[in-house]
Amino acid sequence: MVQHFDLILKGGIALTPAGRVRADIGVANGRIKAIGDLGVATGTEIVDATHLTILPGLIDTQVHFREPGLDHKEDLETGTRGAALGGITAIFEMPNTKPTTTSAAAFNDKLDRARGRTWVDHAFFIGAAAENADKLAELEQLPGCAGIKVFMGSSTGSLLVADDSTLGRVLGHGRRRVAIHAEDEPRLIERRPIAEAAGHPGAHPEWRDVETALKATTRAVRLAEATGRRVHILHVTTEEEMEFLADHKDLITVETTPQHLTLAAPECYDRLGTYAQMNPPIRDARHRDALWRAVASGVVDVLGSDHAPHTREEKDRPYPDSPSGMTGVQTLVPLMLDHVHAGRLTLERLVDLLASGPARIYNIAGKGRIAVGYDADFTLVDLNAARTISNDQIASRSGWTPFDGMKVTGWPMATIIRGRIVMYDGQLFGPPTGQPVRFTDTIPGA
Ligand code: DOR
Repeated sequence: MVQHFDLILKGGIALTPAGRVRADIGVANGRIKAIGDLGVATGTEIVDATHLTILPGLIDTQVHFREPGLDHKEDLETGTRGAALGGITAIFEMPNTKPTTTSAAAFNDKLDRARGRTWVDHAFFIGAAAENADKLAELEQLPGCAGIKVFMGSSTGSLLVADDSTLGRVLGHGRRRVAIHAEDEPRLIERRPIAEAAGHPGAHPEWRDVETALKATTRAVRLAEATGRRVHILHVTTEEEMEFLADHKDLITVETTPQHLTLAAPECYDRLGTYAQMNPPIRDARHRDALWRAVASGVVDVLGSDHAPHTREEKDRPYPDSPSGMTGVQTLVPLMLDHVHAGRLTLERLVDLLASGPARIYNIAGKGRIAVGYDADFTLVDLNAARTISNDQIASRSGWTPFDGMKVTGWPMATIIRGRIVMYDGQLFGPPTGQPVRFTDTIPGA
């Protein structure tokens, strides 16, 4: 009998756990059903992938989509629209919204808002605060929860866990991974006059200096070891932190961002002004080179875009009153494919950083690899497509990217989520049908 699938991806080169293979992929009921030569099998839909490379669905584990409360910058619909257009199949969204995502009610409100409005699968972080520290073990079990997020230093919004005793309480309650923004708050406060006196974002890496980041990272790692808690240090930006973290990989996982791997001070501040301002800051080439070495050596587990949109009007305020953050969810894949093209990392390593890495460190169920039984999530890329990133492609409500005008080689051509073609060649196919991501450590009975 001729086999029938809901979808067949025909003849592409797929990055599977067995390596790069030219194969057909058959999908049924949203899952991968067969990989290999499917011969005369029929498909309700058939995608000719002969000129494309098929990656497992790429996952962006750090985005700020601003809903509720800051929807003038972004919302779940526009944020996930950018994700789908950029070849991202799932996002993990941060809790510094208004209100903050620090209670079950606020968390479930986000899940409700996401229903029928997200273009990609989604999970949300619970924000840690002094007020909810003792309840985190319960909160982290909510379906759709990616884990706990801690801001050790003030950034956008009011979330803050500045002292070791509160951080110790946070780490002592619960078992899931705690993602930490590591900048030392007392040092940030002490050094803010540097930014005020300079009045130019070129001073941003001096205000929020290496010691500010290293001090917080060291404190977080010591407390993680004391409590036995698995901790993920977000957007690591310095050579010194990478050297330190390399010796603590048992409990600690590491993220860096495409923008820290691509931009460098002082050039980025001269060219982009406050549009290059983010926390922790873009630093000079010494640090950027060290981040690349940490990508090469395996110290880095995942890349996150830290998509953090602000309107142009907000960004145009004089530094340091200008808010920190830049868009990124839509440019993550094009930028990194361009780095692959330039030989800075392999495509296999990129898949490790954006699919298997996220699945491994957050215990994602059924995603992160092209394997039978897994969700049929795919990012189809054309490794040779030469394109130019531009502001007018950007779906974010903020409407800009720091990479406007950059020529890249390599482009996401299709986004397929649980067997549904959500984006093909820059076109979206609705309605939005994103679902909460499942985690093996919150499945009932697990
Ligand atoms: O630059 C940043 N912007 N860093 C953060 O940690 C927060 C983010 C935001 O939400 O704007």
